[in-house]
Amino acid sequence: MLLQKLCGLVLVSIFPLHECFVSAQTSAVGDPGMRRDGLRVAIEAWNQCNEVGEEAPNMASPRYADCFDLYNSTSTIRVVHRVNERDNKLGILNATSRGRGPLDVNQYAAWKEIYLGGKCQVQDKPKPWQFWMIMLKSGNMDTLAAVCPNNGRKASPFPPESRFPCFGKGCMNMPLIYHNYTTVREDLGRNKLKGSFYGTWDLDAAAASVTKELITQNDSSYYEVIWEKEVGKGSWNFHHILKTSSKYPWLMLYLRADATTGFSGGYHYQTRGMMKMIPKSPNFTVKFTLDIKQGGGPRSQFYLMDIGSCWKNNGQPCSGDVTTDVTRYSEMIINPSVDSWCNPTSLQSCPPYHTLLNGTRIHRSDKENFPYEAYHIYCTPGNAQHPEEPYNFCDPYSNPQPQEILQILPHPVWGEYGYPTKKGEGWIGDPKTWELDVGKLSQALYFYQDPGTAPADRYWSSIDLGTEIFMSDNRVAEWTVSDFDIIVPNEAAGAITNIGTK
Ligand SMILES: *[C@@H]1O[C@H](CO)[C@@H](O)[C@H](O)[C@H]1NC(C)=O
Ligand SMILES: *[C@@H]1O[C@H](CO)[C@@H](O)[C@H](O)[C@H]1NC(C)=O
Ligand SMILES: *[C@@H]1O[C@H](CO)[C@@H](O)[C@H](O)[C@H]1NC(C)=O
Ligand SMILES: *[C@@H]1O[C@H](CO)[C@@H](O)[C@H](O)[C@H]1NC(C)=O
Ligand SMILES: *[C@@H]1O[C@H](CO)[C@@H](O)[C@H](O)[C@H]1NC(C)=O
Ligand SMILES: *[C@@H]1O[C@H](CO)[C@@H](O)[C@H](O)[C@H]1NC(C)=O
Repeated sequence: MLLQKLCGLVLVSIFPLHECFVSAQTSAVGDPGMRRDGLRVAIEAWNQCNEVGEEAPNMASPRYADCFDLYNSTSTIRVVHRVNERDNKLGILNATSRGRGPLDVNQYAAWKEIYLGGKCQVQDKPKPWQFWMIMLKSGNMDTLAAVCPNNGRKASPFPPESRFPCFGKGCMNMPLIYHNYTTVREDLGRNKLKGSFYGTWDLDAAAASVTKELITQNDSSYYEVIWEKEVGKGSWNFHHILKTSSKYPWLMLYLRADATTGFSGGYHYQTRGMMKMIPKSPNFTVKFTLDIKQGGGPRSQFYLMDIGSCWKNNGQPCSGDVTTDVTRYSEMIINPSVDSWCNPTSLQSCPPYHTLLNGTRIHRSDKENFPYEAYHIYCTPGNAQHPEEPYNFCDPYSNPQPQEILQILPHPVWGEYGYPTKKGEGWIGDPKTWELDVGKLSQALYFYQDPGTAPADRYWSSIDLGTEIFMSDNRVAEWTVSDFDIIVPNEAAGAITNIGTK
């Protein structure tokens, strides 16, 4: 727990010292600042609509974990893993033998996440927690297969369209996932921990050929996340690489802090995660160090911060009914090549209004004052009944339910929240430790609700960062994340909410 003392000079001169405003803060994540030697990390892979669809051959269900404790009683440090290869290799073939039938592959993956969570769980107050989550997603979509619902409703097949990449049958495959379990190694008197997940979406790649070499090889997809830490010192460092190919031109790799129960943003099954308290607007901040080494090309939507939640258009929390639940996302894209699509001649790509810190609203038709360049794009929920004209729906297939997306760009209006104010800030060659007032920002952002409904409590059940390389092949992004933390008021610890659970 951090104690933050806020004593204004004026305050001190008028009131006795003990009347200074003292606000207690605490971390919402199980491992504040990524400092715990006994790491808890997992990986998940999603298709275009956040499902599995079909397991990759011989790859088990695409949920794996690396969770261990360190033992230090003897002269050498030992790493004791909580999740073994039998657990990680569980797949749909095991469904019946484990008394799990007749789950389908999607439900099985959700079950496996909870199973792995049980192995990784760390007892804590006010709630136990499980793991950081590495998320992989491919945007490929087989329009003829019609496996992804359209705004939460059953879709019909339609002919291929260029906005949905697909090389043919099977294009929505899960990636190959390989795992180097964390080990400890002594190096010049220091004990170093290191482990990784890595792989490719190219199913024809021979296991032995799935190495970092794929980055330089023409037209292979590749990803890796390597975590390293010195025992007893500093933060974990998560080193990410993501490469697209012509078969897989739209790929995503994020590091997520998800809620430990309930639905995380964009996922309609119970999840496990890192956030033992769910941050609520306007009172929380997110801290982390980000070092971007390669950007992933001009269409790499690198999210400095991505927040996800779910509430209905009437302001009620989501219930699991995919026709009325709405995933809400907001992201700050820091790639300076990504431009604003919101402008005075394209108002459908702007939120209806921008809100200043003092509550003043500026309508998007106010050409003099609306900060068009602060917004990349805004998309109205696909099931909104009364959206203000003109409006834009987007990505009707990419979530199990309709979604609302608000993507922002570096701009002076975000400066008061600690976000970048100009293009290029925090980008390649400008590593930074950020302390973002995500709580206040997310309170000020526009999100749709039906007219006359009470404003939703904005709880954010998923907070992550990473990149979405959009429709461009053979692009490489590379970055590291460390020191990740989410700070909430201490009161939040007492007010445990069960967001999104049925
Ligand atoms: C191992 O134990 C020693 C002595 O108690 C302690 O100083 C050291 O920090 C411990 N190392 C780890 C990795 O826990
Ligand atoms: C899961 O199924 C595979 C393939 O049938 C089998 O080899 C493995 O032993 C099973 N694992 C468990 C834990 O039952
Ligand atoms: C995984 O381990 C193998 C064998 O030690 C090593 O060659 C490879 O570089 C490692 N890969 C990653 C991504 O850590
Ligand atoms: C690399 O791959 C692209 C896409 O498949 C192809 O058009 C190009 O000819 C390849 N280049 C080389 C040098 O093989
Ligand atoms: C949350 O923030 C609001 C506005 O900044 C403030 O009035 C309130 O006291 C804060 N609540 C807590 C629990 O810190
Ligand atoms: C809010 O802030 C803006 C910009 O600083 C200012 O023009 C406006 O007068 C303020 N409104 C109120 C109600 O304070």
